[in-house]
Amino acid sequence: MDILPTIAETRSRLKKEALVAFVPTMGNLHQGHLDLVRIARERAACVAVSIFVNRLQFGPNEDFDRYPRTFAADCAQLERLGVDVVFAPDEKELYPEMQQFLVAPPPVADILEGEYRSGFFRGVVTVVLKLFNIVRPHIAVFGKKDYQQLHIVRGLVRQLALPIEIVAGETLRAPDGLALSSRNQYLSPAERAEAVRLYQALTGVKVAVMAGDADFRGLAEGARKLLDKHGWNVDYVALHKQATLDPAQPGDLDLVVLGAARLGSTRLIDNMEIRAPGR
Ligand code: PAJ
Repeated sequence: MDILPTIAETRSRLKKEALVAFVPTMGNLHQGHLDLVRIARERAACVAVSIFVNRLQFGPNEDFDRYPRTFAADCAQLERLGVDVVFAPDEKELYPEMQQFLVAPPPVADILEGEYRSGFFRGVVTVVLKLFNIVRPHIAVFGKKDYQQLHIVRGLVRQLALPIEIVAGETLRAPDGLALSSRNQYLSPAERAEAVRLYQALTGVKVAVMAGDADFRGLAEGARKLLDKHGWNVDYVALHKQATLDPAQPGDLDLVVLGAARLGSTRLIDNMEIRAPGR
């Protein structure tokens, strides 16, 4: 496995490859990330992973400084999975000067996560485009855990005609249902026990919709109240259309319920796709 810190080395190493599948990450890898690597491995002879904690996508009061960095352990796991190339630049390599060309994402980046994390998707899309230009993958794998990010990256690739196939990986969860996330490490033992309630609240919405309840607002409000009652600070719980991420309307069938909430100082997100029963 080649661990490459520079753009030049990464380009020249990957140039000769006929089919490259790419998994961009911020490191601190868990089974969710590794499952995306497994998907990439199935799809292409050459698998590239990037590890870069992208300052551009963190707000001034967010967790950039405390974001867990576990580079040696990450590389050991990737090596075991047969990854070919790890692109691991430092900030000077990726942003040698102030990044002034920024990708302006579409209005869908202003709802849900975008409403609570101003500039987040601009930072994500800018680094993703830059990573794509460096790695030049044929396939890139993203997790449904970050549902809106996946949606926006698909739009980026489609509208800018990037020759990349985007593949989605399902959300991997702990045995109790909590979606795996690097941020779960911030949780105290008591918070960790409580954290599963986000999954349970979204599951409650899913079960109700599948049973025919079409009061989408009422269901989302109920989930929010449940979390409120248990000490969460809820940013949103909402039902949206899978295809566009517009708010769900009566009669929509392919839905996704998304939630974001803070437990103490830790902000968690989760989502679940739902197929509503047709008439
Ligand atoms: P990061 O949070 O490290 O996530 C990297 C990839 O792993 C993303 O596609 C994310 O959706 C996926 N992932 C995270 N948790 C998962 C889980 N429990 N199951 C399945 N997949 C999961 O997302 C980012 O980094 C950054 O925004 C990035 C795209 C790298 C740009 O900086």
